[in-house]
Amino acid sequence: MNNIRPLTDPSKPKVYIETYGCQMNVNDSEVILSILQDAGYVLTEDIAQADVILANTCSIRDNAEQRIWGRIDQFKLQKRNRQNVIIGIVGCMAERLKDKLLETVDLVAGPDSYRTLPEMLKAVAPDRPQINVLLSHEETYAEISPVRLDRNGVSAFISIMRGCNNVCSYCVVPYTRGAERSRDPHTIVREAETLFANGYKEVTLLGQNVDSYYWKDEENSNRNVNFAQLLEMVAKISPELRVRFSTSHPKDISDEVIYTMAMYENICKHIHLPVQSGSSIMLEKMRRKYNREWYLERVRKIRSVIPDCGITTDVIAGFCGETDQDHQDTLTLMEEVVFDSAFMFAYSERPGTLASRKYPDDITYELKTQRLNEIIALQGRMSLKSNEKEIGRRLKVLVEGPSKKNPEELCGRASSNKMCVFPSRGEKAGDYCEVEVVSATSATLLCKRID
Ligand code: SAH
Ligand code: SF4
Ligand code: F3S
Repeated sequence: MNNIRPLTDPSKPKVYIETYGCQMNVNDSEVILSILQDAGYVLTEDIAQADVILANTCSIRDNAEQRIWGRIDQFKLQKRNRQNVIIGIVGCMAERLKDKLLETVDLVAGPDSYRTLPEMLKAVAPDRPQINVLLSHEETYAEISPVRLDRNGVSAFISIMRGCNNVCSYCVVPYTRGAERSRDPHTIVREAETLFANGYKEVTLLGQNVDSYYWKDEENSNRNVNFAQLLEMVAKISPELRVRFSTSHPKDISDEVIYTMAMYENICKHIHLPVQSGSSIMLEKMRRKYNREWYLERVRKIRSVIPDCGITTDVIAGFCGETDQDHQDTLTLMEEVVFDSAFMFAYSERPGTLASRKYPDDITYELKTQRLNEIIALQGRMSLKSNEKEIGRRLKVLVEGPSKKNPEELCGRASSNKMCVFPSRGEKAGDYCEVEVVSATSATLLCKRID
């Protein structure tokens, strides 16, 4: 469990990998590299040197897929001079488009098939493309130690579960990633311990719906582990190791999780709680299984237990049949909650989803864009408002490195996940600093040192 940095060896075949989509895909690329490294491959960051070119892809919106089609054309240019280069598409788009991709690339591998990549790569020939898109009920890559791809060796992702059992009507993930399954907690704790021993200071526990994490111990049901208990197990590794998690589902986030967060200083006070819409009518159609009032109650509960908790969200503009009133409901909810930040999207119909079969995608491109722009503009004001509230507060920041704008300054995140910039005293990535917020923009807290 200590292959933190890839080896380099000129005699070994080289693999180049590009990652698209969510943090889970970032972690999956690290798992893929671990599997390929064990099979004798080495990582290259230079596509012109690669024997194998992989793209770990995303299907969440149509534009994510369009981007990949463009990249495939560019990858193929590499074949002009080096015909033996293997081009592989892995991840969610591989799972969704299967044979259609196989017509144009050498290898197609879905998210649960990565253990078979070495065999598949060996079997590839010009007239023999390889495909494996079987989904599994068990695969969690539990004992594989990912080859870390992050640059600064401070913060790492750990997947604690795979797949999703929700059927949000707009979402393709249950089809590309299959059924939900939780990973053995002992392998999660071991992975976090190894990271900490190797100098990492922050781990983010990943799942599509972390609150439904549940590990059943085959021998003793008293040893079953839920998400709150897993959080506690990881938090106990060391007070110097920060613990984050993503994503929480508003229907499932439990009081136990909120109280566990409050109990441990090193569990970061940030919850990514995607609301999607402020309209209960839209939420029903989206099959989110909560309504506006439920969501607002969860936010109140979080803030009553953890007053300074960072809360961020995802919003979809222009879902099927969305009226002006529904849109207004989203805006008023955003004003009421004052999210610290948000990912905001125009609805993109995904073939095969419930929404694509049941509801016409009837909001015009122009109206979706107009509503999305209103949402983005409002969130800009809310981010500023939320950041200005921090002025005068003292924060503990984990240094990520020099600030991009000014090398004399450092940047890093507060527990709430807000980005802070402050004068350097020569600290390096992974050190903790105490700061006080002096002023704020919608994206950053500008701070002075108090340590
Ligand atoms: N599991 C997480 C989110 C996964 S996808 C959750 O349930 O919240 C990340 C975000 O992409 C979603 O929260 C949603 O806002 C957005 N998204 C998903 N499908 C989409 C679609 N068809 N069109 C536009 N945005 C979508
Ligand atoms: Fe998609 Fe819903 Fe699952 Fe999130 S919870 S991945 S939005 S189906
Ligand atoms: Fe995209 Fe798959 Fe993640 S569709 S958002 S890469 S789970």
